[in-house]
Amino acid sequence: MLKKIELPYSLNALEPYYSKETLDIHYNKLYEGYINNTNDTLEKLEIARATNDFQNIKCLEKNLSFFGSGVILHELFFLNMILYMPTNPSKSLMDQIEKDFGGFINFKNQFSQSSLNVEASGWNLLVWVPNFKKLEILQCEKHQNLTLWGCIPLLVLDMWEHSYFLQYKSNRQDYINAFWNIVNWDEVNKRWDEICPIYKV
Ligand SMILES: [Fe+2]
Repeated sequence: MLKKIELPYSLNALEPYYSKETLDIHYNKLYEGYINNTNDTLEKLEIARATNDFQNIKCLEKNLSFFGSGVILHELFFLNMILYMPTNPSKSLMDQIEKDFGGFINFKNQFSQSSLNVEASGWNLLVWVPNFKKLEILQCEKHQNLTLWGCIPLLVLDMWEHSYFLQYKSNRQDYINAFWNIVNWDEVNKRWDEICPIYKV
């Protein structure tokens, strides 16, 4: 059974950039819903295998992709934010960003523009693509569509309305601008060092 991750900060720690009210609903209601639905789906898959009854397999595997991806991305999102403090990409990650985006400002511009243009409900992600040996930015629709197989998410931004509407209404740009103040680059660096160790510049 999956369990909710603990937040490494209090619910009001990201204010004023990310309100306590939004984080409370996001973490305690919506994320918990994804955990519960993923557990429910995993349980039903176990029963299907045990009884050799695969009548609903299409629906179950679809749910696993949707709810499971929702769990994974929300956990990355909550962990890649932190109360305002100066963190930066490590030298190794910065070298790769400079190589693949032509500089940090270029990366930040593309990430912001890409986030702004996520269609409907989705995410924006900085990913490492092992097969291409490069960093890229991807927009994701819902939680699971438009990925590149095998890519490893390093930094993610939730662009579902539930992540910003309460505080920023329809002003996505302000939400994106605020996000840059609470990016936890130490966590991104950790993922870069621990998960992508064999592909360095
Ligand atoms: Fe969300």
